[in-house]
Amino acid sequence: MKVLSVKHLLGIKNLTTADIELILETASYFKEVLNRPIKKVPSLREVTVANIFFENSTRTRLSFELAQKRLSADVINFAASNSSVKKGETLLDTVNNILAMKVDMVVMRHASVGAPHFLAQHISANIVNAGDGTHEHPTQALLDAFTIKEKLGDVAGKKVAIIGDITHSRVALSNIFCLQKLGAEVMVCGPTTLIPRHLHQLGVKVSHDVDAALAWADVANVLRIQLERQQIQYFPSLREYSRYFGIDKARLDKLDAPKVIMHPGPINRGVELSSDVADSEHAVILDQVENGVAVRMAVMYLLANGG
Ligand code: CP
Repeated sequence: MKVLSVKHLLGIKNLTTADIELILETASYFKEVLNRPIKKVPSLREVTVANIFFENSTRTRLSFELAQKRLSADVINFAASNSSVKKGETLLDTVNNILAMKVDMVVMRHASVGAPHFLAQHISANIVNAGDGTHEHPTQALLDAFTIKEKLGDVAGKKVAIIGDITHSRVALSNIFCLQKLGAEVMVCGPTTLIPRHLHQLGVKVSHDVDAALAWADVANVLRIQLERQQIQYFPSLREYSRYFGIDKARLDKLDAPKVIMHPGPINRGVELSSDVADSEHAVILDQVENGVAVRMAVMYLLANGG
């Protein structure tokens, strides 16, 4: 059996291309399982997983939990908002108390960059990063790559424009690493204030013209304006942002060819995407969500079986 080169999924940066390809190949098998009348396999019957979420989530939390249940794992869920974290307990104490209950794998979302990397230095369970601050969201990038491959046949050679609030996005960095490792060309597009100044050093193209970015791309991965992470005003108003960077049908109708439109969710409808685009045949947003379950099954199955 092929195994991953890592014990934890902390980010895409430290995965090899072979690791990513193995995850996508395994996810294809699990997607087929998920389309059977009986969607469950006994692969993680002996494994207990704790989902510990210190930040809000809809898609990622539910997708991991469903993936664990489809793999027959035992699952416990922890939300910081109603836990003893509120009484001052540290991250390490919280996790060590959970592990004392004989937990084998921890899926964690945390607002602090590097929180899962810190845990990996202190505990023996497998760790899956479900998003650490503005840093990485590896399973989102993997499900995005899986979806591109499903829609366009391959990721290699494709042109992907990541459009929106790049500065505050963990999806952007994981996508850049993942797409480049799989052989895609990547462009980031947004207002100057929402693109980190040194990002071109990662080998991505940088644009501030959304029409040019759309004309160049095969795929537009549109990101949310993360107002909750913005301490200062990065653009004059949401109305102005939407006018210059929002993607609506009129903008897409000017292009020579249709584009695959992606969004990790949650969408700010009418800001980065109009409803007529979000709900159009070119949007694969719910396919991304569907594929997320298979991709997360693959990640947890592979981590539990070596690496
Ligand atoms: N895409 C994503 O991470 O969504 P949630 O914040 O709802 O998990």
